[in-house]
This record gives sequence, C-alpha cells and structure tokens, in this order.
Amino acid sequence: MSDADSAYAYAYERLADQLAEQVRNGTLRPGERIPSVRRMGEHHGVSVTTVLQAYRKLEALRLVEAKPKSGFYVLPERAYRVPPPRVSTPGKAPTLVTTTDLMDTIVAASTDPDAVPLGAALPDPALLPLRALSRSMGAVLRRDVASGHAYGSPSGVPELRREIAKREWHTGRTAAPEDVLVTCGAAEAVSLAIRATTEAGDVVAVESPAFFGTLQAIEGLGRRALEIPTCPVDGIDVDALEHALGRHRVGACIVTPNFHNPLGSLMPEVEKERLVGIACERGIPLIEDDAFGELYFDQPPPSLRSWDEDGTVVRIGSFSKTLAPGYRVGWILPGSRHMTAVHRQKLASTVATATPPQLAIADYLTGGGYDKHLRKLRRLLRDNVGRLRAEVAARFPDGTRLSRPRGGFLLWVRLPDGVDALELHAKALAAGISISPGPIFSPSGAFRSFVRLSAGHPWSERTEDAVDRLAAMVGSAMV
Ligand SMILES: Cc1ncc(COP(=O)(O)O)c(C=O)c1O
Repeated sequence: MSDADSAYAYAYERLADQLAEQVRNGTLRPGERIPSVRRMGEHHGVSVTTVLQAYRKLEALRLVEAKPKSGFYVLPERAYRVPPPRVSTPGKAPTLVTTTDLMDTIVAASTDPDAVPLGAALPDPALLPLRALSRSMGAVLRRDVASGHAYGSPSGVPELRREIAKREWHTGRTAAPEDVLVTCGAAEAVSLAIRATTEAGDVVAVESPAFFGTLQAIEGLGRRALEIPTCPVDGIDVDALEHALGRHRVGACIVTPNFHNPLGSLMPEVEKERLVGIACERGIPLIEDDAFGELYFDQPPPSLRSWDEDGTVVRIGSFSKTLAPGYRVGWILPGSRHMTAVHRQKLASTVATATPPQLAIADYLTGGGYDKHLRKLRRLLRDNVGRLRAEVAARFPDGTRLSRPRGGFLLWVRLPDGVDALELHAKALAAGISISPGPIFSPSGAFRSFVRLSAGHPWSERTEDAVDRLAAMVGSAMV
C-alpha cells in the first residue's frame, strides 16, 4: 500500500477490516452469504487472492465460515447474544480496602513468564515499538550524556510536556505544556491526585469494580473507598453517585470513563457532561484516569476535561498501554485548582521523573510514527478482543456473561452461578494459565464470580487451547 501513513500493510487487511465492521454492526447478518470472491474482487478492484486472504482472516476471527462449494457465510454470532454482566450493586457505606494482600499475591503470580498471559493488563511486547524507542534512547543519551546526571524539573522535560499537550487536542480540549506534569506512570499520577485533593481518613468515591492499583493507593494513603454502582457498558451510574454524594462527605471521585479496567466500559457523552456538572457544582475534585483512552475501536472519546469550566477535573494519562510500560512514564493535568498541590506532592514523592525515558519518548513522538503505530495497535487489539469474546462465548458454559469493550483489550467475564473466581484462578495458574480474579477489583473482596481476561497478546493456538481448558475448568466447577 502506497500511503505511508496507512495503518494497513496489505490491501486484504483493509478489506477484511471493512467487512468485519459490517458484520459487527449488523449490516451483514448472521447466516447471510457474503459476495463471492470474484464479485468482491471486481467490486473493490483487487485480486481474487487479496479477497481470499481477507475472507480467511474473517474466518480466523470467527466472523464467517466457508461452506464447501457454496461460499462464505456470516457465522451465527453467539458472542453477540451472550449478555453483558449487570450493573454492580456494592455496599452503600465507605470501607477500608482490605484486599491488598490478595492483590499482591495475585499480581505477582500474573507475571509468571511461562504462563499463558490472560492475566496482566499489558500489551504484548511484539505490539509495541520497543526497538524504535531504544533507538531514540540511544540517540538522546549520545546527544546529551549529562541528561542522566542532574535531577530534572519536577514538572518533566519541556519536550515531552509539549508533545503530551499537543495530543490533548484529540480529547476535545486543548492544553498548554504548562498544564502538564510528567509522572512515573499513571500509578504515581493517581497517588499524587489523591494526596493533593484529600486527607487521611477522607472518603474517595470509586467505580465498582475499580482498578486494583487505585484501590491499593487508597489503602496505602489511609483513605476509605466508597464504591458506586457501575454498568459494564456505560460506566459509573451518575444517579447513584449523586445520591451517594448527598449521603456521605466525599473528598474526591476517581473514574475511568474510557475503556475502564476491568470493564472496558465507555461513558456516553451526556453522562460525562452530567458527571462533570455534578462535581463542579459540589466542588468535588474529579480524577479522570484515562490510561486506556488512546485505545478506542471507533472514535477518540472526549475527556471529562472537555466540560470542565473551573479546574475541577484532574486528568491522568500514560504511555504504558501504548508504548512501553517499563519506561514508567505517565502524566497528569491537575487543572487550575489543584496544580500547586500536585506540584508540591510530586516534589515530595520522587522529586522528578527519570529524565532519559522522558527524552526518549519525546524523541520518538517528534519522529512522527506514533499515530501510525496507534492505528495499527487499535486494529490489532480490536481483533484480539473480538476473537477472545467469540472463543469465550463459544466455549464457556451457559450462564456466562461477557463485557462488550469499546476499546482497550480487557474482557470482564461473569462466571456461571457456583463458580468461584479465586478457586478458578488457582486451578488455572497450576495449569499454566494466568487470569485475574474479580475480588482484586473490589475493596472488600466482592466479584467472586468474575474474572478479567486480557486480549493484549496476538492470538495463537496456545491462547485458543488455554481458553478451551479454562472453559472445561469452569464447566467442572459447576457440578
Ligand atoms: C486504569 C489504570 N490506571 C493506571 C494504571 C497504571 O498505569 P502505569 O503503568 O502508567 O502506572 C493502570 C495499569 O494497568 C490502569 O489500568
């Protein structure tokens, strides 16, 4: 393909993608025969071989099947009939986070390099531009050996702050470099945001379920968590949050409106606007953790900052899910109200983020390949999520419920009644498969019937076999 900026290396990939979209959005219906290879080729002005490659890819994605001497048909898609899990129903009182020991044990287990990696929320190294980043790292260190010597500015290196600010444009609201502080990953940014906006003993409202790292931070900082009912499709229930704010003194609220971990949910724009309105009206800091925001499947989602008129939103991002988790680079836009406090906390926390990884990422971003990389990554992850959903839907027993992520690469699975996620986790790990059990996403160990699966790795026979074995374990746990 001549267009150097295209996310598609081959014409068949573009065609397969267009057809997959038509299957997913229902233009091509289950059971329908898709046009013959010859007709499709004539229609798109591509060769029969190209069309055949596209159809084979759709077969591999379990979207169509070939029938001998008849053609290709859209598969009756069980994955689309498996319902999503229901809105969560957490307890109504603030609670201490009591699950951090469990989290530590499980997170340590999920890094076993020999296990099939359905547990950790990390993209496969093969999907990340690690070589290009290494070249950038080499170049910046050759250019400026001293960059490894001095402490940098607590706010981060100017080159990177500028690049991050430029990218904010995609999220519906521009930013200036001075609005950005570079952090040691989103993890540090979350911790700075909590410390800057609340005090020990305060209540922090969180989604239910919530990313376990955030819960660990709440526990470590001596705050309490107030879980708010959350929908696996549309995110936090804004009415429930408003109700809870009327009953409890809440110091801050942390949400992941875009492709939530573990739900994959995406808040509708009207709900985002309402959420920001409520936070602004009540003067409650609203921390937006957007670690997955760049990994959308269709449209870039607007950030909560788009509706923020008075600096109430504290926005957080990261390069961990798109570039290199090991570089530990994220950022925070504290908003006008919290800028001074966050800056002070950063100084007290790590003084400054390590300079060489910041410079390397800035060099890579200014090189211009990031958007192309992201387009490809989004497409691969969307295919992987589709494939994993289809396999789980086809193999897991009736009674299973499955999230429908609109971005990211995580699946939230409600197991059939009677199956315990912690027991399944232990059994799967003993069989060389890592998964994340639901209780680590709750301050009180709820979600015992849920697991999170990661589709961050290229599909392989090993993954397919692991899903098959997991399904058998789930089936045998039911009886
Ligand atoms: C929602 C969310 N926030 C923050 C983080 C931490 O990211 P980082 O590696 O940038 O510290 C993660 C990592 O999984 C995450 O899923």
